[in-house]
Amino acid sequence: MTKQDILEYLRKSGGYVSGEEISRRFGVSRTAVWKAVSALREDGYEIDSVTKKGYHLTSAPDILTQTEICQGLKTSRIGTHIFTFDTIDSTNEEAKRQGQAGAPDGSVFVAEQQTGGKGRLGRVWTSPKGEGIWFSILLRPKDSPLQISNITLLAGLAVCRAIRKFSGCPALIKWPNDVVIGSKKVCGILTEISAEVDCIHYLIIGIGINANTQKFPEELSVKATSLQIETGTPVLRAKLLQAVLAEFEFLYLSFPTAKEPEFLDLYRSLCVSLNRRVSTVRRGKVISGKAIDITPQGELFVQMDSGEKISINAGEVTVQGIYGQ
Ligand code: BTN
Repeated sequence: MTKQDILEYLRKSGGYVSGEEISRRFGVSRTAVWKAVSALREDGYEIDSVTKKGYHLTSAPDILTQTEICQGLKTSRIGTHIFTFDTIDSTNEEAKRQGQAGAPDGSVFVAEQQTGGKGRLGRVWTSPKGEGIWFSILLRPKDSPLQISNITLLAGLAVCRAIRKFSGCPALIKWPNDVVIGSKKVCGILTEISAEVDCIHYLIIGIGINANTQKFPEELSVKATSLQIETGTPVLRAKLLQAVLAEFEFLYLSFPTAKEPEFLDLYRSLCVSLNRRVSTVRRGKVISGKAIDITPQGELFVQMDSGEKISINAGEVTVQGIYGQ
């Protein structure tokens, strides 16, 4: 019997369960039950104990453990293997290491804290303990026509939809896959790939969601926000993670290429970059125009001030009215 067994038993019962019943159920002494309950309390679970009635689980802590993530997870392909870490350099790096060692398709790597969190374009991604959801999904899309630019859009859409459903915040996507609320960023995504010309070994989709940050350092506070700042209440991160994994799986299984017209329409409907003025740098020159569409290749289609229409497939695009980077 482990403390996890007792936790599951208390959860299932929903009310008071006597120490005697638990000790009978698992064939252990009442002292062993009491010790396991004490250990769970140390982990942050609130367990009420009343003479003659027994134990009652009244609340669970906001922690990203296997138990909290798997309990109630409604996916069949994404999250079949979940690896959790208290501290890690970067969940993308860990996913790469495990990917090389053969970790299966759909594995998810989650950390409470990253010491070397990576952002796009070589930037640092600040990942303090317990404040966010820092995780990576490993995919092995065998014989799939999926392109990296499209999976990037799909990941952004999944997070955006999950945040909307879970928190009610009016999240939108800044092309290709930043998730913003108002003018500030709440989530960033870094997709990495190991591939040969005609075959993807694995894809790693690293997602960082600012969940319960209460205050950002000054330089970040102008452009970053968190769900707690937006809603005024902390979120249960394991539950939001479940919602993101479920949305991701739904979109991934429904739209295998992420080019399907219905997929693109869903994306367009939540894309804040469309119909706004955007700027990017081309051959060392800043060029500006109006974003008018998303192409089936996942590019941003822009009508330049010169009248020319161009497709942007990578790099940094600034959107007027949305934070700087
Ligand atoms: C960006 O917007 O620049 C992308 C940020 C991606 C951050 C996530 S956190 C989990 C995963 N591990 C990393 O080191 N980076 C990604």
